[in-house]
Amino acid sequence: MKEKLEQIKQRALSSISEAVDMDRLNDVRVAFLGKKGELSRILKGMKDVAPEDRPKVGQMVNEARSRIEAELEKEMAVIQKRMLEEKMKSEVIDVTLPGIRPADGHRHPNQIALDDLERVFIGMGYEVVEGPEIEYDRYNFELLNIPENHPAKDEQDTFYITKDILLRTQTSPVQARVMETGVMPVRIIAPGRVFRSDEVDATHSPSFHQVEGLVVDKGITFADLKGTLEQWAQEFFGPETKVKFRPHHFPFTEPSAEVDVTCFKCGGKGCRMCKGSGWIEILGCGMVHPKVLSDCGIDPEVYSGFAFGIGLERIALLKYEIDDMRLLYENDVRFLKQF
Ligand code: DAH
Repeated sequence: MKEKLEQIKQRALSSISEAVDMDRLNDVRVAFLGKKGELSRILKGMKDVAPEDRPKVGQMVNEARSRIEAELEKEMAVIQKRMLEEKMKSEVIDVTLPGIRPADGHRHPNQIALDDLERVFIGMGYEVVEGPEIEYDRYNFELLNIPENHPAKDEQDTFYITKDILLRTQTSPVQARVMETGVMPVRIIAPGRVFRSDEVDATHSPSFHQVEGLVVDKGITFADLKGTLEQWAQEFFGPETKVKFRPHHFPFTEPSAEVDVTCFKCGGKGCRMCKGSGWIEILGCGMVHPKVLSDCGIDPEVYSGFAFGIGLERIALLKYEIDDMRLLYENDVRFLKQF
């Protein structure tokens, strides 16, 4: 029995020293120390051992077990250390390599145009304000001299939430909101998103952006309006730019005008961009209608003002010579990164 145990111990120890990895080592553990392993088998054979020898044999089995366990543990530490060293060798990190630079985003062409526009007006002393995109009919139409059944309301047929609440069709309601506060003088621009029930095509979208302008003070005249817009156009489109005011009609201004600028592509000679006319239409404007002033609580005998509305996409498309508005909304990076 003693020899048999000694033999088992020797075989276990040599198997341990031959094991090259953790799996192999585990196989050795199972083979010798497991429930059906060699040492268990000896213990099971105890009944054939003479009763007086049993404690002795038990002790020898325990000694063999401890020895094998100790050896397994030692070998395990050696293998773990070797694995770690191999891992460290194969996963060398070269800290001197340059990192991967995250791609920089940049402003959308709409935003670039808006920032340029704001810069000019802020330079002239204007404040930038915002109004809600979900607006009351009262501000979007009523206070702007567009009563129920007015044909202008038809043109701007839109997305109603209730009978009195709608997605604003223009940024002009911000005019009424600002005037209503009664804080004079007013000198604001109000950029923002507007909504119309338009089909999508190269120049239309059900949602686009406008920049509203409003000045109210004592003694404001059409000359102020002309000078302001000319100044802005020259800073925005280039110093050679000329402006032309064509009579038009808007319910909330009187008189009203549409403004054209000389085509900055051909300088006014006529080209594809201006469809041969030399002029490009960019905005609507006028003197604030006295009824609008008084409905908003301002005395038209004391105060006068002018207003204008610029289509942001329109001027962005013109400035960057983009021929399809849809490109501004598709978020194709190949397009956007050109600006
Ligand atoms: N709100 C007008 C529109 O959406 C644009 C406009 C025209 C705004 C004349 C104005 C203005 O402030 O004076 O068609």
